[in-house]
Amino acid sequence: MKKILMVCLGNICRSPLAEGILQSKLSSEFFKVDSAGTAGYHVGELPDERSIEVAKKYGIDITNQRSRKFVISDFKEFDLIYAMDESNYHNILSIIDDNEDAQKVKMILNEQYPTESRNVPDPYYGGNQGFENVYKMLDEACEIIASKLEN
Ligand code: 4NP
Repeated sequence: MKKILMVCLGNICRSPLAEGILQSKLSSEFFKVDSAGTAGYHVGELPDERSIEVAKKYGIDITNQRSRKFVISDFKEFDLIYAMDESNYHNILSIIDDNEDAQKVKMILNEQYPTESRNVPDPYYGGNQGFENVYKMLDEACEIIASKLEN
């Protein structure tokens, strides 16, 4: 079983979408996909309604998800950890000193824009268009991730 973790700040907008999208492209028999936030502001909550809506529009149900905080044991539990932006990336790396763990952490948009370290913009304070935009970026990234994992 290969395990992949998606990480953003609140685990209610971006990483729940990344989790739902990647899960929809992989067989649950061989892959576990989860998500977490570097901050605990929304622990236990459902994804943001706007994330739920945009996912639903593309046929993905993310209402089974509840926000949780990233924990140190996630480094051992997961094989790959995708950060949504540079701030998440640095927050994740700041709590480890094991080089092997550090290798697991990647910026998700480096899948389609290698080495550019582009951020998935935080859509929390914007409108629905921001969520649509985030969905498209994540769908593109997850398509690449899924095809690599399945080969
Ligand atoms: P996310 O978005 O990191 O994509 O889940 C945010 C959600 C909540 C907050 C910030 C970003 N907040 O400040 O509460």
